[in-house]
Amino acid sequence: MSASPASPPLHDALKPLSWLLGTWRGEEGKGDYPTIKDFKYKEEVKFDHVGQPNLEFSFCSSHYETGKPLHREKGFLKIQPGTSHLALVNTQNVGIVELSEGEVKGQEITLESHTIGRMTFGKDPAVTKIQRTFRLVDADTLEQVVHMETSATAPAQHHLSIQYKKV
Ligand code: HEM
Repeated sequence: MSASPASPPLHDALKPLSWLLGTWRGEEGKGDYPTIKDFKYKEEVKFDHVGQPNLEFSFCSSHYETGKPLHREKGFLKIQPGTSHLALVNTQNVGIVELSEGEVKGQEITLESHTIGRMTFGKDPAVTKIQRTFRLVDADTLEQVVHMETSATAPAQHHLSIQYKKV
């Protein structure tokens, strides 16, 4: 996923999100949840644009030791022009479609799902809520934290924390 060779200028509406652009690599993600064993993972994240008022993204995680591809996500982060209001439209390889909304404030984004679609043959427990924060820790470090709620575990609890370095 990359913008065309002659990259168009960033849409004005995206200026509040320009700090996300680029490729980021996390070498030591930490995952947990009350119903599973703690785990570590790696993840590469890309944010790109084609001149429209939305960012395209991919989140590709891999096994901490073997590098085997694991959880993957692709989608769009849209901004309501002239506002700080965001919408995340995301497909996940586990068969979930996530529609989240939230705000960008400085170099921090908070998002919460209002709609989660799943396959008719998805495994239980079903994901019922996803909450994400993205924060620019410093010029080279981006952090993502994910909490989720499932049909078996509510309210939302921590699932993922990871810091990425700019590639
Ligand atoms: C388990 C959802 C991202 C690794 C789970 C479970 C759910 C879930 C519902 C099962 C929990 C249970 O059995 O009670 C999600 C959602 C994600 C996400 C909604 C994104 C928003 C990731 C990522 C990784 C990951 C990026 C990185 C490797 C795992 C692992 C398990 C797990 C290792 C345990 C699997 C097992 O014990 O069989 N996740 N996940 N997840 N997730 Fe995630």
